[in-house]
Amino acid sequence: MSDSPRDDLTELTRALIAHVAWQRDLGAVELLREGSLPAARAAAPEAPVEAPPLEGARGEAPPLEGSPVAAPPSAPSQPPPAPVVAPGYAAAPSAPPPPVARPPASPAAVRPLFVEAAAQGAARARGPALEGPARVAALQVIHDEVKGCTACRLVQKRTNTVFSRGNPFARLCFIGEGPGEQEDRTGSPFVGPAGQLLDRIIGSMGLDREEVYVCNVVKCRPPYNRTPEADEMHACSPFLVRQLDLVRPEVIVALGRTAVGFLLDTKDSMTRLRGRWHSYEGIPVLPTWHPSYILRQPPETVKATKAETWADMKLVMARLGLQPPTRP
Ligand code: URA
Ligand code: SF4
Ligand code: URA
Repeated sequence: MSDSPRDDLTELTRALIAHVAWQRDLGAVELLREGSLPAARAAAPEAPVEAPPLEGARGEAPPLEGSPVAAPPSAPSQPPPAPVVAPGYAAAPSAPPPPVARPPASPAAVRPLFVEAAAQGAARARGPALEGPARVAALQVIHDEVKGCTACRLVQKRTNTVFSRGNPFARLCFIGEGPGEQEDRTGSPFVGPAGQLLDRIIGSMGLDREEVYVCNVVKCRPPYNRTPEADEMHACSPFLVRQLDLVRPEVIVALGRTAVGFLLDTKDSMTRLRGRWHSYEGIPVLPTWHPSYILRQPPETVKATKAETWADMKLVMARLGLQPPTRP
């Protein structure tokens, strides 16, 4: 994250401000008065950054059950580069309950996109996770392919491709729809208004934007921010499939209908899907409202939509063993 105590302090302040702003938006300021900030973030500035990474943090974790320990080929004796691990990522004292509400679907019956993506090179049968520099390098290979990709019409109007931001060793991954204007201009996902709201949500969870992984279903901006067409998602999805197979987050938050529809292969409404656990390739998925959707809400409904989003994030925090920022 940072090298100096001053940077840490700046970061801490930023997280605190984000948290308060979001809580205020939710009308939850009274909760703050009860001394409700996440312990690690609210502690004196000298305390939180010293907290050691705890077990369960990505990059420190034991291998997945059933997978042999395999050193990354490119770095047999090197420890992974210190991934960003924050006090907020303390492991839960006891394992959370198995969540998956949706039974694993038969691959042949569903997700044609998926089966094809696999045929195009995404490994469905997962080997051991790549750790350390090997994972970073493998993601860079995909990123380079994306930069040169002309597989769908979205290439025509794009300024930059938009691959990911954040920590490739994250326990938590947010997936959106596709780049907007500012993302197209900068090449980084969720940097515009929706991204700022997303960062506040992340901050409210006691996390920093740099310790989660963020990407989209399509890597090039659809003109006028229209929803990506089925054939565009189809063309682009192998990149996402491969990305997720490398990052292997413990939890995915699917932001909005496009990401949810793609990951869960469903046309069900967000109202039916959000707030409950689902599964993508064995990874628990929580669908929630897209930040752009929240920003588009009229004044009558915005508060309720934010409250639902926050309720969803509390489910995510519970599953990751993160301390809720409010206490009884
Ligand atoms: N909306 C998205 O879905 N993704 C972005 O990166 C930005 C806005
Ligand atoms: Fe390639 Fe995806 Fe961009 Fe289409 S949206 S050109 S498939 S990277
Ligand atoms: N439609 C979307 O695309 N996203 C939402 O979050 C809700 C409705």
